[in-house]
Amino acid sequence: MKILLIGKTGQLGGDILKNGSAEHEILAPGRSQLDICDSENLEQIISYKPDVVINTAAFHNLALCETEYQAAFRVNCIAVRDLAQICNKIGARFVTISTDYVFGGEKRMPYTESDRPTPLQVYGISKLAGEFAALSTAPQQSIVIRTCGLYGKSGSASKGGNFISKRLADARRSDVLDMGCDQRVCPTSTPDLSKAVLQLIAHPQAEAGIYHLVNNGECTWYEFTKAIYEILSLKVKVNPVDRQGLSDGMRRPLYSVLANTKAKALGIELPPWRDALEKYLSTISSAHI
Ligand SMILES: NC(=O)c1ccc[n+]([C@@H]2O[C@H](COP(=O)([O-])OP(=O)(O)OC[C@H]3O[C@@H](n4cnc5c(N)ncnc54)[C@H](OP(=O)(O)O)[C@@H]3O)[C@@H](O)[C@H]2O)c1
Repeated sequence: MKILLIGKTGQLGGDILKNGSAEHEILAPGRSQLDICDSENLEQIISYKPDVVINTAAFHNLALCETEYQAAFRVNCIAVRDLAQICNKIGARFVTISTDYVFGGEKRMPYTESDRPTPLQVYGISKLAGEFAALSTAPQQSIVIRTCGLYGKSGSASKGGNFISKRLADARRSDVLDMGCDQRVCPTSTPDLSKAVLQLIAHPQAEAGIYHLVNNGECTWYEFTKAIYEILSLKVKVNPVDRQGLSDGMRRPLYSVLANTKAKALGIELPPWRDALEKYLSTISSAHI
């Protein structure tokens, strides 16, 4: 299977590239070769003759999305539509990654793929628009994967690292920390997610449409932070703080736990979040702790 991967320097893209096996021929041009916002340049995808295009690129700095909304929509929606159009033209499958932030957090049971999205900020709105753009432009070929709270080895450059690297930096500065206990989420490891994405695209019964893929279970960021310090035996006191869904001045869903119902029906499951966290932390060198 010939895969064209967009976002190889990112957390998820980096792990998809790493976890591709012999049966995946992965071509991964960098942004300087293939900027998805440069519509004319996108035509070069045709010459790669891919069977699948995987788009992991995003404009996902929440605060910047509010002020630079044109750039957010350019990357998260218009470029997704353009990629879907090219996939339609060449008969390739199109996989694009979306987010739990398409939901508003009014439920207290895991959101399924058919629940109605109600995004709270420009980021979530632009990603939801991207979902519609993919599914309406290439309805037979598009797979939209919603995920949550990603962490991977490379950290997200546009966010200045991932949640774990930031908590490790906090622990180096102080032995006491406030952490939000209001949002319930499913933090997800990109090593696990990348394998699940590759499994899904190889699955003969994986039809076009929306899939949720997250590590199993749910927790608050307070519980996740405590688990990081417990696993690493770091003595940091974590104080739970109820921010009522407001963090860094942004509205966030109080509950955005996703149920992987469709992938699970195909036999694709991700490990529980705490197991994934332990595995990830075991790969971090002591120099970073
Ligand atoms: N991070 C999370 O917590 C989270 C949660 C839910 C959903 N998601 C979704 O999951 C996906 C992957 O997230 P991630 O954390 O792996 O992202 P990431 O680490 O920030 O990586 C994004 C990648 O996209 C590339 N990119 C950005 N704009 C581009 C453009 N115009 N043309 C080509 N490449 C471009 C970046 O390249 P450069 O290196 O050149 O910048 C980078 O390789 C995104 O769709 C995101 O919305 C993320």
